[in-house]
Amino acid sequence: MSSANNLPAEQDHGDGELAVKGDNPFADPGLPPHEHRRTDIDEKAANRAERQVAFLFLISMLATIGFIVSYYAIPKSQIVYIFLLGRVSALNFSLGLTLGVALFCIGAGAVQWARTLMSDVETPQERHPIEADKETREFVFEEFKAGAKDSAFGRRKLIRTTMFGALALVPLAGVVLLRDLGPLPGKKLMETNWAAGKRIINHNTGEPLKPSDIQVGSLTFAYPEGLSEEDEQFQEKIAKDALMLIRMRPEDIKDKTELDWSYEGIVAYSKICTHVGCPISLYEQQTHHVLCPCHQSTFDLSDGAKVIFGPAGHPLPQLKIHVGDDGFLAASQGFQEPVGPSYWERP
Ligand code: FES
Repeated sequence: MSSANNLPAEQDHGDGELAVKGDNPFADPGLPPHEHRRTDIDEKAANRAERQVAFLFLISMLATIGFIVSYYAIPKSQIVYIFLLGRVSALNFSLGLTLGVALFCIGAGAVQWARTLMSDVETPQERHPIEADKETREFVFEEFKAGAKDSAFGRRKLIRTTMFGALALVPLAGVVLLRDLGPLPGKKLMETNWAAGKRIINHNTGEPLKPSDIQVGSLTFAYPEGLSEEDEQFQEKIAKDALMLIRMRPEDIKDKTELDWSYEGIVAYSKICTHVGCPISLYEQQTHHVLCPCHQSTFDLSDGAKVIFGPAGHPLPQLKIHVGDDGFLAASQGFQEPVGPSYWERP
């Protein structure tokens, strides 16, 4: 390591001319003399700079607290007029502004600290040899320790404390945002409108289904009696209640429970994919496979709707059905397991 102040004697001619050392064609040009900053020589200026840095970190802390308060205090529906932006969501604007200020102040505080208080002595690095010898490594280690000491990290307690405060608080903004991943499903996926005795309604005609309406090889979509497309919440309810019925020859059904829960080869399964909840819509007559169009999960309806391909983690839930006294197909009970995507509460 060398600088203008400690060039090897054979390189520095004292007249601005630098000699080439040995067979090295690239002489060390050296560095201009180091100029002290005001904060290096004036303790009052250094203390002022320290307060500026601490102030920036403090602003960052306040902005992070402002972010969290905004998240809880400002209604999602509130709109404000902002110059140049027009009408914007007050919540989004406040979250963006406070988080931006928090991050900016941490960066600005660090830059100001480096510019005014950390050591700014230039330290050139030799180009050859690339691998440092033991002495150099020890020298670098000592320099590093000296640099750490120069940065006054240990001495400038105010900066250190406020910086740690700012760095510790700013991740809280991310933690708060995790709430936006949505509420946990709880038991809601266990609750559908299917129950014992509810007739099965053809989604296309809106009429109750009889066994004779379903031919071998056909796929029929259905929903429970009592649901109406006029209902404002129809889409929300059908998202869990959607059912598909397939008829196959009873001897093709491999799973014993599936056979018991079917009626003369008619099986009823949730139409909602157990991967992330897309509606299943493709049926292959010959194999009795149904395919989810979203990520190609494939279920074998002749074998308990087991997953035979794709990312889904569970078979489709089956609905036990029978034919009521009126001759229409009906549910014998509700679903016995949650419909839709897999989640950690699923047994
Ligand atoms: S939602 Fe069906 S495979 Fe992904």
